[in-house]
Amino acid sequence: MTQTPESRPTALAGTDFVPGPVLLLGAPGVGKGTQAQLLVTKYNIPQISTGDLLRGNIARGTELGLKAKEIMSSGHLVDDEIVNQMVLHRLQEKDTHRGYILDGYPRNLEQATFLDHTVADPIYLPRLPVIAVSIVVSYDKLLARITGRRNCPVCKHIYNVCANPPKVAGVCDLDGASLTQRGDDTEQVFIERMKTFQAQTAPVIAHYHDQGRFEEADGNQGVEAVNVAIEQAILKLRRAPRG
Ligand code: AP5
Repeated sequence: MTQTPESRPTALAGTDFVPGPVLLLGAPGVGKGTQAQLLVTKYNIPQISTGDLLRGNIARGTELGLKAKEIMSSGHLVDDEIVNQMVLHRLQEKDTHRGYILDGYPRNLEQATFLDHTVADPIYLPRLPVIAVSIVVSYDKLLARITGRRNCPVCKHIYNVCANPPKVAGVCDLDGASLTQRGDDTEQVFIERMKTFQAQTAPVIAHYHDQGRFEEADGNQGVEAVNVAIEQAILKLRRAPRG
């Protein structure tokens, strides 16, 4: 499979700890992408963001991207079949053998069922069940985070004009690229994304909560404090006896 920036392989393992499949769950703007990037560095496992994979297809003008573009700008979910197959292909890459961070997937109960069956299939490494961390942030903060977000189109680093601005306005600190703003990062589309989240993704959070391999992290704090809370949750969940 062709390597794209949003499906980059990671370096070899630098630790004996095997994180396994980790789901970062939460509403639009809670910080899933920001935290996933930190966990990639910490654990040397890949981030698999269905939003980034879809935006990559839009940027390349693929057939899939053309289908996804309109749906994404309305705040609704892209078809399960498209998203599930995208994740399935990505999980077949070798860099997932110690685990991976799923960011923005699963988004409804059908995707959760598909993922649970896939992870349980012994051909997929590592043979560990998923653990889920739900990041929780108040509604007012979410809107400010979404409308203030800027992204580097090259290295994918995530900024915020208020909370985490680049040194030079509009320019990536890491590679000097001009920062971009996502088309769905408007108040109007955010309201639709929140409705979709409440109707379709909240039941996914309940699903993993009921399975027991689940923790919540307070995302109202600064990025570093949220990161500490998530790492503690991951360690706790992986050390828990398997049921
Ligand atoms: P997707 O790209 O997944 O968007 P999302 O879930 O709405 O989440 P975001 O990427 O908006 O936010 P985030 O939680 O990653 O926050 P971030 O770290 O960037 O999906 C987009 C669309 O694609 C969907 O609407 C749908 O159409 C489609 N799609 C995707 N997956 C799909 C699926 N599985 N099925 C079907 N359709 C799918 O942070 C946000 C901002 O806050 C940044 O500016 C950041 O700097 C700032 N920030 C982060 N943490 C903090 C902090 N602790 N304090 C202050 N600021 C912070």
